[in-house]
Amino acid sequence: MVLWSGRFSKELDKQVNDFNSSISFDNRMYAQDIKGSIAHAAMLARQGILSNEDKKAITAGLTGILEDIESGRLSFDPAAEDIHMFVEAELTARIGDAGKRLHTARSRNDQVALDMKLYFHDEIGRILSLCRELIETLLEKAAEHTETVMPGYTHLQRGQPTTFAHHLMAYVQMLLRDVQRLQDCDKRLLDTMPLGSGAAFGTTYPIDRQMTAELLGFTGISQNSIDGVSDRDYALELASGLSIFMMHLSRFSEEVILWCSWEFRFMELDDAFSTGSSIMPQKKNPDITELIRGKTGRVYGDLTTLLTMLKGLPLAYNKDMQEDKEALFDAVDTVKLCVSTFIPMLKSARVLTENMRRAAAQGFINATDLADYLVKKGLPFRDAHQVSGQLVAYCISQGLVLEELPLETLQEHSALFAGDVYHAISLDTCVRERKSAGGPAPEEVKRQITLAKETLAALL
Ligand code: ARG
Repeated sequence: MVLWSGRFSKELDKQVNDFNSSISFDNRMYAQDIKGSIAHAAMLARQGILSNEDKKAITAGLTGILEDIESGRLSFDPAAEDIHMFVEAELTARIGDAGKRLHTARSRNDQVALDMKLYFHDEIGRILSLCRELIETLLEKAAEHTETVMPGYTHLQRGQPTTFAHHLMAYVQMLLRDVQRLQDCDKRLLDTMPLGSGAAFGTTYPIDRQMTAELLGFTGISQNSIDGVSDRDYALELASGLSIFMMHLSRFSEEVILWCSWEFRFMELDDAFSTGSSIMPQKKNPDITELIRGKTGRVYGDLTTLLTMLKGLPLAYNKDMQEDKEALFDAVDTVKLCVSTFIPMLKSARVLTENMRRAAAQGFINATDLADYLVKKGLPFRDAHQVSGQLVAYCISQGLVLEELPLETLQEHSALFAGDVYHAISLDTCVRERKSAGGPAPEEVKRQITLAKETLAALL
């Protein structure tokens, strides 16, 4: 017998029941559903809406259900419409009439809104601790590589010299913003406890929503009952925060893929974190990073699913909203899977510092520094740029690099060149002198690392 059998004279069609059912995927919110119900019952009892005996029976019954689900003694009934109805039906089967009183002053509409918030609050916590681990891994690697010179790229062309630490610290900044975005989403989520919105239009019972909020660890309650059941902004914020996070991880993955290629050879993955080919014996493929790049599209898809599902919905609850779960579950699952695989892959990867340095020594990445040398001797930057460009063209025609040009040749292009030019354009000088705030000079990157550690400690 279904819960609404009073109004109906026929059983629900089997096909419709399956179509309508969400238990196969919302069952993962069982702990949150039970936690919410225990708080709801406590509030009802305190307000005199439920007797103390009923409250005790409900609390004990729900606790038993939780234990039985967790120990595997109780499995979800695939014929139940959703986790909320499953738990309520199981409770009533166990404790009788008191179980039927639990749903007083509540609807599944505010119940599901609550369960989702509780569930995703927990998930945000898990994702944040993975973020922290990832950032710490990057900070450790960065600290090891403040002197590891590599080419800095724009347009994927060698541009100016940088260090591997400086490059990694760019990702640390992105990830720190990701942490802040997720925390911001969590903060707003916790500020709007929806239970007590009822179906969407409140209730005549003298409920105390503030009490329920406090019992459940929320900082406030949703201020409008229609919004309380209709709001999925937190789902969108979470999915977009996760999409941006995945985009960062995907850009990083793309670089790891490039660095592992024979064309770059800047990095080698541990054998345990790369795969071979079934036909080409020499292959060592960075599958993990390719999959992360691929799965990023999946998380964007989840965000698009949510945005599209919501865009034409009239207020208040509509069944379309049941579709929010699989998308958002998929987004959090995917992110957790990707980050927890990425971290040990990165930790165990070998950084091929000699190859980085060799690449930095070619490709004229000190051409700007050569121009800057002339500027410091009094030549306007545009003219210096011209001279340096001509020298690069000359070097290309001769198969040379700038530091190999004899002083006489340099002086043919500008009388300002003197013997100190070779020191000025050496790779180490070029990196060491880039001391501007945010730049790659080892001392400056060490400062960035210290500051990032402080920021991380303040955030998490
Ligand atoms: N399974 C539903 C969902 O996920 C729960 C709310 C159903 N409410 C209703 N009135 N049909 O959205």
